[in-house]
Amino acid sequence: MKKVRVGLIGCGGRQNAHMDALLQMKDVEIVAVAEPVEERRARAAEVTGAKRQYGNHSEFYEKENGESVDAIFIAVEPTAHDHIETRAIELGIPFLVEKPMTLDLQQADSIASMIREKNLITAVGFQDRYLDLMERMKEEIPKHKKGGIVNGSWIGGIPPVWWWQKKSTCGGQLVEQNIHLVDGLRWLFGEPLSVYAVNATGMIQPGVDASPEYDTDDYSVCLFRFQNNITATLESGCYCKGVAPNNGLVVILNDIVLDYRLRNNLIMKTKGQTLDIRRGNDQTYDLDRDFIDAVKSGDGTRIRSPYEDALRSLKVAFAANRSMETGKVVCLKEDE
Ligand SMILES: NC(=O)c1ccc[n+]([C@@H]2O[C@H](COP(=O)([O-])OP(=O)(O)OC[C@H]3O[C@@H](n4cnc5c(N)ncnc54)[C@H](O)[C@@H]3O)[C@@H](O)[C@H]2O)c1
Repeated sequence: MKKVRVGLIGCGGRQNAHMDALLQMKDVEIVAVAEPVEERRARAAEVTGAKRQYGNHSEFYEKENGESVDAIFIAVEPTAHDHIETRAIELGIPFLVEKPMTLDLQQADSIASMIREKNLITAVGFQDRYLDLMERMKEEIPKHKKGGIVNGSWIGGIPPVWWWQKKSTCGGQLVEQNIHLVDGLRWLFGEPLSVYAVNATGMIQPGVDASPEYDTDDYSVCLFRFQNNITATLESGCYCKGVAPNNGLVVILNDIVLDYRLRNNLIMKTKGQTLDIRRGNDQTYDLDRDFIDAVKSGDGTRIRSPYEDALRSLKVAFAANRSMETGKVVCLKEDE
């Protein structure tokens, strides 16, 4: 069987998880890597056995095309997406790109429309859509009476990457990190109708608790209104040191509470019964496998988070940012 030839653009933290997954697949071969940081590039080439190495995506595309690679995995910082996806689309190469796919919504819209025109297979790294625990919740929720409250949180410390320290380079924690739960809410409850959000700054001292250029939100709290009387709060915080609450989503319906603990377990409480289910799958492997299978078959319809759908989650997160800036509710219907 012919192997799927993969190129990697960006070889930092997140790409390591994709490398681990791809290296387990006997029908995949990583043939080229692109990364400006020499040490990371060399390590990625060594680990994957990729024969071709490039200093960045431009060098990659000077040599690589649809004849030499079948798929590309893109994991670069949110502001580094210039011409990475557009070139792949022009060359007709399917790609998996990490969330948030960019901080520039115009760029994202134009990428989405190019993808549509070419009918290109794409996937975005919303790994949680592949979690067995999320699947369980998605099956369970429609069995119960509609309506209820959802409390979501992702509260902890500051991730170590340089670009996370500034809102202009990470988009804020909601856009960069808690977008997983924004996407989870959409996956479970459909499109939100409106969002109101507040943020706090000034708790973390730049140069003391974080790097000197730190200026992102210390925390934010969003309130989403969905159809069917679902109202969700989503808290994001990076001001904690060495402590964190039980992050995840707590879905409170009239006769069941689904207490989903971020990528770990799901506690389902009904009258007289409590079930504690541990995560049983590797969701990044399943995300990558689904994308590779789509590339092999030419059928992308099973992919749970294609670019166009993921863009809706990105727009919802940016609408929440807008609400933080204006102090006003953002009606998401008007947003389209
Ligand atoms: N899906 C998830 O669960 C998950 C988890 C962590 C990070 N991420 C996302 O993955 C992306 C990358 O995050 P990270 O933690 O790996 O960051 P990182 O800073 O560790 O890695 C990004 C890498 O991209 C490289 N790069 C930048 N411009 C490039 C270019 N033009 N060509 C080739 N390489 C280039 C950088 O040198 C860096 O090594 C972010 O969007 C982040 O939000 C997703």
